Amino acid sequence: MAAQMAVPAPGATDDVVIEATDLARHYHLRRGLFQPQATVRAVDGISFTLAAGRTLAIVGESGSGKSTLARVVTLIEPPTAGGLRLLGQNPFDRNTADRRAMRQAVQMVFQDPYGSLNPRKKVGAILEEPLIINTALKAPERRERARAMLAAVRLRPEHYDRYPHMFSGGQRQRIAIGRALMLNPRLVVADEPVSALDISIQAQVLNLMMDLQQQFTLAYLFISHDLSVVQHIANDVLVMYLGRTVEHGPKETLFARPRHPYTMALMAATPRVDPERRIQVQILKGELPSPLNPPKGCAFHTRCPFARERCKAEVPALRPVDGRLAACHFAEEIAG
Ligand SMILES: Nc1ncnc2c1ncn2[C@@H]1O[C@H](COP(=O)(O)OP(=O)(O)OP(=O)(O)O)[C@@H](O)[C@H]1O
Ligand code: SF4
Ligand SMILES: [Mg+2]
Repeated sequence: MAAQMAVPAPGATDDVVIEATDLARHYHLRRGLFQPQATVRAVDGISFTLAAGRTLAIVGESGSGKSTLARVVTLIEPPTAGGLRLLGQNPFDRNTADRRAMRQAVQMVFQDPYGSLNPRKKVGAILEEPLIINTALKAPERRERARAMLAAVRLRPEHYDRYPHMFSGGQRQRIAIGRALMLNPRLVVADEPVSALDISIQAQVLNLMMDLQQQFTLAYLFISHDLSVVQHIANDVLVMYLGRTVEHGPKETLFARPRHPYTMALMAATPRVDPERRIQVQILKGELPSPLNPPKGCAFHTRCPFARERCKAEVPALRPVDGRLAACHFAEEIAG
């Protein structure tokens, strides 16, 4: 008799931390008293899987839906449609056991290291706050954990008693990262975590994030509009345009030979991306179209240097092309 295959328990996954399936978040806006309701499809059918210890970068211009996706993934807002599985469970299902634990499993780091820390609290209290709210730990143990976290984010013990204004932007962002890690999350969603920092400080914070990722086997959803930052930190890259995925795959594959004209344009517009491997296309022209009235067919056709008649009429499917997914009718022909 053939050996019986081990059947995984429902929802069990090797080390997949989060799985999004056709995730959507739409906003209904009323423009005026007698005008019909309008819909912004801020996120419109995004799918990905992210495993422990891995980084998925989400890239796209301002308004492409990155932060909206982050708010859904961090359970701040429910999706309008589609599914999210966190640690094998649906976090929005009322019947899911221990939703509190699921919320703790996902933490967020924001762009602004000045606005995100309470100026009236000392660093020690900032780090201990999540423990006070979510655990029954007593003061000495909280203090011990906060001190250990200070060391982990490479700050000194005496910083425990200082206020945020006494720190540089890079140090503040390290405090914010430390605070996000206090409850031992499995996934950290970082929304432009280094964009507000000087370039000289950015690498320092990115390297710290990568070390912490190894140390705590964290999954990162890393949002950035800067491809040189993404090139440094990501394993996989998902490029968004007007709420949808236009290209998604391993970082090396995308950077070596992008297959979507939008990815190509973003790369051409990022001077710090390795010029040897950059494909020169026209620098992105024009504004992102209004998300209230996105172009028909391929939403990128109004700005795409390769657009043809078919692009105006037919929405390109996201499909496998040369080791990644790309949503362009002509992905095979136009690249490099
Ligand atoms: N609460 C909301 N109500 C209505 N529209 C919203 C809301 N939040 C976001 N949007 C719209 O959804 C779209 C995507 O916004 P989002 O903030 O997710 O983009 P982003 O990629 O994070 O941009 P940026 O790089 O500027 O941070 C935008 O058109 C925005 O105006
Ligand atoms: S489908 Fe057409 S418009 Fe869209 S990216 Fe491809 S070539 Fe450009
Ligand atoms: Mg944003």
